[in-house]
Formats: sequence, structure tokens, C-alpha cells
Amino acid sequence: MSVLGKGSGSSVKMPVITIDGPSGSGKGTICQKLAEALGFHLLDSGALYRLTAVAATEQGVDLADQAAVAQVARQLDVQFKSSEKGVLAFLSGRDVSRDIRLEEAGMGASKVAAYPEVREALLDRQRAFEQQPGLIADGRDMGTTVFPDAPVKIFLTASAEERARRRYQQLLERGESANLRALLEDIQARDTKDMQRSASPLKPAEDVIEVDSTSMPIEEVLNLVLKVVSERIKLSV
Ligand code: C5P
Repeated sequence: MSVLGKGSGSSVKMPVITIDGPSGSGKGTICQKLAEALGFHLLDSGALYRLTAVAATEQGVDLADQAAVAQVARQLDVQFKSSEKGVLAFLSGRDVSRDIRLEEAGMGASKVAAYPEVREALLDRQRAFEQQPGLIADGRDMGTTVFPDAPVKIFLTASAEERARRRYQQLLERGESANLRALLEDIQARDTKDMQRSASPLKPAEDVIEVDSTSMPIEEVLNLVLKVVSERIKLSV
């Protein structure tokens, strides 16, 4: 198990590694591998927005009604459990891991994520993941808003075409049908929405390290991030 290096005096700075970037940049895979390699906790903040959208839809709440959606976010009964298949998400005890990965849940998440009241409602829930021995935080505003003091901040990107291609491949591997052009349009629409909203838009933090994964194999990205982590955080493994 990894143990955190001590800060000055009695205060111990928690090693939080934020990985922000657009959909399909490889954040999810990198974050999971990093959490495994370092023995850290993992926050998939996108899943919280997806869960909010799915729960609201199930409860018959209009996604255009900010106050009502924020109320759903405040009352979310969510549990995450590690399994061989990765992290499973439960809503009021029901496994919704598959439902929240559907394209419509992604679009719903992007819609509710633009509401400041919803972002506020999910803030403490996200910060509660900051626990010893450390945290890998995956999202859009991890380094800018949720964990601004994180010692390591990465902004992971890839071209929209490459991200659409990865998503296309992923869907085919799952035995689902997919249309590359539609996926590219969906990714571009989501990018625009995430970057142009006024509440915590997707943008690199000032002290971030940008990594373009367009033509980098996942192992190479992982090694690069691990190198940065070892330079910035004193870990005794
Ligand atoms: O990362 P993922 O694709 O699961 O996120 C779904 C949506 O949730 C994103 O398109 C984005 O609109 C929103 N999101 C966000 N802030 C985060 C994580 C996700 O706005 N920290």
C-alpha cells in the first residue's frame, strides 16, 4: 500500500491527482490503471452526473427543470463497488452500471452538468472521496474547481476523430451497433457544451500538465503520468 510523504509540520497534504479532459480522451482507463498502480481511491465524477440524469429521468423529473434536478442530485442514493468488471454503480441498491454508460445518459449528464445548482449539490459528495492513501479524480473540473490544491493535475486530450474512433471500437467490442459519423457529431456537440457553459467549464487549470493521447498507446500515457506523479509526490511504497 502506498503511503503519503509528510508535508511540513503536522499537516499532511493528501495526494490528489486530477485527470481532466473531454469524453473519450482515455481518462477512464488511465484513472483506473493509476488507482490500481498506486492503491489510491478513484472518483469518477462523470458517473455522478450520469447517475443524476438517469435518476431524474426515472423519477419523471424534467431535465430542463434545474431546481428539481438539483433536488434529485442532493438526494441521490449512490454506491460504487469495485468488481472484476471495474467499478459498478448502484442507484438505491440497483446496479445501473450499464444504463449510465448509454449515449442518452451521457447527453443527459452533459445537460444537467451545466446547472450551477446541480454542480453545487454534488461538490461535497465528490470532495468526500479525498481519503488516505490518496485519490485519482476523473472529470472536467477536478483541477479547477473540486480539488484546486491537488499536487498533480493532468489535462488529457485527443482529437475528436480519434475519440470517436475509440468509442466506435468500444461499442463494437461490446456487440452494440454504432455509427462513426454520429458518434463524432455527438462528441463535438458534447465538447462544445462542456467548454462553453458558464458553470465550471471544461478547461485546463493553470498549473496543469497537458497530454495529447491522439497517437499515444495507453501504456505510454500511463508511464508518463506515473513519472510526473513520482516527481511531484513523495510516495513510500
Ligand atoms: O466523463 P463522462 O463522459 O462520464 O461525463 C459525462 C458528462 O458529465 C460530461 O459530458 C460532462 O458534461 C459532465 N461532467 C462534468 N464535470 C465533471 C464530470 C463530468 O460536467 N467533473
